[in-house]
Amino acid sequence: MTEQDRKPFLYVVVCAAGIAVGVSKLITAAQERGWEVGVIATPVAMGGFFDTTAVEAQTGRPIRSAWRSPADPRPFPPPDAVVVAPATFNTVNKWAAGLADTLAVGTLCEAAGLGVPIAVLPCVADALAAHPAYRDSLIRLRGMGVRFGEPYSGMPEEGGGRPEFPWESALDLLERP
Ligand SMILES: Cc1cc2nc3c(=O)[nH]c(=O)nc-3n(C[C@H](O)[C@H](O)[C@H](O)COP(=O)(O)O)c2cc1C
Repeated sequence: MTEQDRKPFLYVVVCAAGIAVGVSKLITAAQERGWEVGVIATPVAMGGFFDTTAVEAQTGRPIRSAWRSPADPRPFPPPDAVVVAPATFNTVNKWAAGLADTLAVGTLCEAAGLGVPIAVLPCVADALAAHPAYRDSLIRLRGMGVRFGEPYSGMPEEGGGRPEFPWESALDLLERP
């Protein structure tokens, strides 16, 4: 395969929000749009927030969550774009502050510095989203060129059901000029 034949590589960063259980929808949509996908999950997200076995089968690659050993080769190619979905309160605030204590946050800090397009779909309850640190984080990350989807709190709607998490809108955000 030549460099020209290579599909663009998308990192999907998955955080520990309950909605992460549906991340396969995003992976399917990305693959249908021609992306090759590699998943990076936070350590907490690896603890039962989504079906890691199914996601590894879907992407054909192991999920990354910890740093490689120095002697090991890089498991994924460099990203052409990054999606963070769902993005938690915790990860958004750490990313904005530059606290790279997980591979996920370290990867986001680095990708932003390299100018790689990044789209974020937060899943943050209104009570947490009201925290001034979170508001400052959004301002700071937007100022770095990070693209955010609409706020999503995961709260049930009138009538009981939860609104659909807009997985595919992350890909639309990336395609935006
Ligand atoms: C069942 C469950 C659902 C959660 N959902 C959310 C959520 O939607 N958004 C959020 O910001 N945190 C949520 N949390 C809290 C995060 O998991 C917690 O803050 C964690 O430290 C986030 O780690 P991470 O950002 O490294 O993934 C949830 C926790 C549990 C146990």
